[in-house]
Amino acid sequence: MTTDSIRHFRRIRDVSPDELRFIINKAIEIKQRPDAWSTALTGKTLAMLFQKTSTRTRFSFEVGMTQLGGHAIFAETRLTNIGIADLADEGLVISRYVDVIMARLKQSTDLMTLASASEVPVINGLDEKYHPAQALTDLMTIKEKLGRTADLKIVYVGIANNVSNSLAMAAVYSDAQFVLCVPEKDPDSDVPEHLAFLQESSRYSENPDIAEAVKDADVIYTDTWINLEYFTDPSFAEEKERRINTFTPYQVNEEMLALTGKDTLVMHCLPAHKGYEVNETVLYTPNSVVFDQAENRLHAQKALLLWLLNKL
Ligand code: CP
Repeated sequence: MTTDSIRHFRRIRDVSPDELRFIINKAIEIKQRPDAWSTALTGKTLAMLFQKTSTRTRFSFEVGMTQLGGHAIFAETRLTNIGIADLADEGLVISRYVDVIMARLKQSTDLMTLASASEVPVINGLDEKYHPAQALTDLMTIKEKLGRTADLKIVYVGIANNVSNSLAMAAVYSDAQFVLCVPEKDPDSDVPEHLAFLQESSRYSENPDIAEAVKDADVIYTDTWINLEYFTDPSFAEEKERRINTFTPYQVNEEMLALTGKDTLVMHCLPAHKGYEVNETVLYTPNSVVFDQAENRLHAQKALLLWLLNKL
């Protein structure tokens, strides 16, 4: 197999809308009947490369491989020769040992380099531009909770970032209506060609007016206004203060939910900064599905691993 023909999951656009729907449906099935796939990846190994911290991504991928009968190797990149040696060379070598790679790298360009060199599928576990495994899970969770995704109104409020980029694409792929309700975008996450693709769809829109945007929302989704690694960084304190002032009107709270006129689901990829993008109470109300959403990382990624390894 040439590296060109390998299927990767670096971003949602690496799959077709039909393929995304197929993986989501399988994820729901796998959650209901996990034993049916308990030996599907016997003898297979996942390499998990982390340049950044993680709770959900690390645990859900590793447990997922265990539950599929396979094995996962966790490696912090600082304890490997990635960063010292040529990234493509290291990626190629790792791909000769394992069957699939999941990587959380700081730079999207590095993830692309790794995938280009790899002889096995590469899954993006988050970079500054995309978080496709999260978005796959999010659409699975919406389908599980509401029975469908088509024609639902999904409103992302807060700061446009890697999570909203992938969520927007997955929502459009799933025939939902996606509304980006943000006062500004994280410049690190800007991808002009991604935005151009979204803007071609009548299912994608932007509206910074909160009351207009959230009206009739089936789902309100938010994420941290400040990247986790900067949250307590003194050199980011001034920008943190500025962002808090800019984004505070966009906090998800009971008053915002009252504007929807519907029984709206609240979603957040976690971890949350309570008191900032979401208030202290909303995450624990019946409308919130954030903990089921976090659990679903496990089920959605099991389906993704099986699909990438031609086991579905
Ligand atoms: N949502 C998410 O990716 O969580 P972690 O950063 O803990 O992996």
